[in-house]
Amino acid sequence: MNDNTIDRRKFLKQASVASLGLGVAGYFGSLGRANAQATPSPAKKFGANDKITAAICGTNGRGLTHVHCLTNIPGVEVKYICDVDTRAMAKGVKETAKKQANAPQGLGDFRKALADPDVDVVTIATPDHWHTPMAILALAAGKHVYVEKPLSQNPHEGEMLIQAVAQSQRLLQMGAQRRSFPNLKAIIEELHNGLIGKTYFGKTWYANGRGSIGHGKPAPVPDWLNYDLWQGPAPRREFVDNLIHYNWHWHWHYGTGEALNNGTHEVDVCRWAMGVTWPTRVSSNGGRYAFQDDWETPDTQTISWDFPEGKTMSWEGRSCNNFPVEKLSRGVMIYGTDGVALLDGNAYTIYDKKGKVVKQMKSNEVVDATNTLSSTGEDLDQLHFANFIDAVRNGAALNCPATEGHVSVGLLHLGNISWRKGRELYCDTSNGHILNDDDAMKLWQREYEPGWEPKV
Ligand SMILES: NC(=O)c1ccc[n+]([C@@H]2O[C@H](COP(=O)([O-])OP(=O)(O)OC[C@H]3O[C@@H](n4cnc5c(N)ncnc54)[C@H](O)[C@@H]3O)[C@@H](O)[C@H]2O)c1
Repeated sequence: MNDNTIDRRKFLKQASVASLGLGVAGYFGSLGRANAQATPSPAKKFGANDKITAAICGTNGRGLTHVHCLTNIPGVEVKYICDVDTRAMAKGVKETAKKQANAPQGLGDFRKALADPDVDVVTIATPDHWHTPMAILALAAGKHVYVEKPLSQNPHEGEMLIQAVAQSQRLLQMGAQRRSFPNLKAIIEELHNGLIGKTYFGKTWYANGRGSIGHGKPAPVPDWLNYDLWQGPAPRREFVDNLIHYNWHWHWHYGTGEALNNGTHEVDVCRWAMGVTWPTRVSSNGGRYAFQDDWETPDTQTISWDFPEGKTMSWEGRSCNNFPVEKLSRGVMIYGTDGVALLDGNAYTIYDKKGKVVKQMKSNEVVDATNTLSSTGEDLDQLHFANFIDAVRNGAALNCPATEGHVSVGLLHLGNISWRKGRELYCDTSNGHILNDDDAMKLWQREYEPGWEPKV
């Protein structure tokens, strides 16, 4: 047995059914059935000085930002760093140990952290195929969850997650951190109040200069990796040498392409600013044009949505050509009857109808004079973690709960489904479901590895 492999007998002894809120048979037999049996216990109340204990899952890349943001928040202690890659786990442990008095424990199996009643919050920065299944397990174990965008690998998972949040009576924040950026919040409130009249067209974009991922060769699983637990809910595939880490993003089996990898941020902001939810109509064009290799998702993609309010949005993604739009590699431009808004992270410019600048804010200028944070990415990102912890400790409203995250992510899933099917889709504006196209609707959900299906 390697270090990462959970010792089932030992685990069952230590993880009492009551503390997990899970059925034992379901725990290992099926992730889904386990949750159906869960009875939520009331969420713990925290006093102003009570410690909030965290476990962070996945610390190769984004999870290190989780480490920095959580350890910067007073009253939070990271007890576990969970990763199926022993090297990534060691990185996470080392970074955390620099920031707090007690070094965290590294765990190869995140389920051990779920079994610890001391753990109050779980944060998830694993590949996309794990987001919903892991979040559902954590909620069922009574933990509050911060899950990276996109909160689902397919739209059905988002629906399950909303249900799991309601059943567990726990909180879930999606890592769409712009929802907590102060200047953006302020200007979106002004847009809602008619700053540029009626908003009717929102253009969003993302550009990067990524290289080829080549062609992977079957290879022995490296000794630093628990590949079975890395694949988890995804049906098993042979290990190839160009998938882990990061390149899983470009495979439909695990990832969701650039549309959800980076499009989520701007599309979420644009949807929020324009006050729209599900569309009437979606279409998408593009392809894998820059290189011929194992990359399956489009590297060049446009998605367009029409909304019942008489509004349209679009996203342009260029993964392998970073020529900017409006001098920005990513952004949001919103056109209204009385002017135009350019939103760039925590910065913005408002133009009148003649193109004259009427209002502007740079990222490092803050609307709230008491806010002493700089404009660096992690300082701004920390505000979103702070909002999550404030919600857990004091009952503050979450800035990006599952209900909001699911719609933004769902718009992009619909775009990907349209691209994969090569046709326009029409949607039920109450829930985004695809109308009169059972074949496209098949991509609303995925197949799971038997025994690993998430269910609520
Ligand atoms: N909010 C943001 O701005 C932002 C930025 C970057 C990435 N992300 C998101 O964060 C996620 C992670 O991205 P990344 O670039 O760090 O990916 P990555 O592939 O570099 O790292 C993922 C880590 O998760 C680990 N992992 C896989 N299965 C696991 C399991 N069962 N338990 C514990 N750990 C497991 C992997 O071993 C790896 O260390 C993605 O979903 C991505 O979209 C968000």
